[in-house]
Amino acid sequence: MTRAPAVEAHGLALGYGGEPALEGVDFEAAPGAALCVLGPNGGGKTTLFRALLGELQPLAGRVRVAGRPAYLAQTERTRLDFPVSALDVALMGSLADGRWWRPPGRSQRHAALAALGRVGLEGQASVRFGELSGGQRQRVLLARALTQDAAVLLLDEPFAGVDPASAERITAVFTELRAEGRTLLVSTHDVESARLFDLVLCLNRRQVAFGTPAQRLGREVLETTYGSDIVVLEGSGDTAVRAITVQHHEH
Ligand SMILES: Nc1ncnc2c1ncn2[C@@H]1O[C@H](COP(=O)(O)OP(=O)(O)O)[C@@H](O)[C@H]1O
Ligand SMILES: [Mg+2]
Repeated sequence: MTRAPAVEAHGLALGYGGEPALEGVDFEAAPGAALCVLGPNGGGKTTLFRALLGELQPLAGRVRVAGRPAYLAQTERTRLDFPVSALDVALMGSLADGRWWRPPGRSQRHAALAALGRVGLEGQASVRFGELSGGQRQRVLLARALTQDAAVLLLDEPFAGVDPASAERITAVFTELRAEGRTLLVSTHDVESARLFDLVLCLNRRQVAFGTPAQRLGREVLETTYGSDIVVLEGSGDTAVRAITVQHHEH
């Protein structure tokens, strides 16, 4: 029996008026797969996520997501200074179930506390969000996504700018989510972290490659994906290359 993909795109083109920002996107992720969306800044990663969320209508082609995905937006976390506690932020995830007009009940508080526990911040539940470190804020935002109990999670650059301890904790949560059979789409511009995923989708204003990291993350694909933003260091076989991305700017 073949199961329907959890996430798929076919012949997809996306834009904001004018030239497409991203085109030629064709991929499928089965339920339980972990897919890395890899590309340079401006490559179209966030644009793809916005289409998967239904915020952006395709110029061509189609996308489909099984159920409503949870979303961890790419954020400038240092600028986030909500005058609310970590628990309040985690609780915002339960607003996504549509009952926003009701004050959170005991079960929602319980779920939000459990989510904070999963990201290692149980003890910080009552700390003001703005007083947490950048990595801790990111973990709270991940907890907020976890409270949605979604089958598909879209996580936009979750490791950008976080401290090593937070990155380790976030990775551990991803491992748990995969063990639970959830589907993960994680964007990054870091080639080496992409190698840990089941699948990789390389974007640079169009789809450059889709497949397993072992198949796809060779010199040619990396050079097409990153252009001058990459330094390919070594490697005899095509998949043995090591690569360093050079960030010229931050979006
Ligand atoms: N709201 C927007 N309006 C117009 N252009 C946009 C908007 N958001 C993104 N873009 C453009 O779309 C392209 C892809 O951007 P984005 O999806 O944010 O890339 P990434 O997330 O990979 O850094 C870029 O050229 C960017 O300038
Ligand atoms: Mg982005």
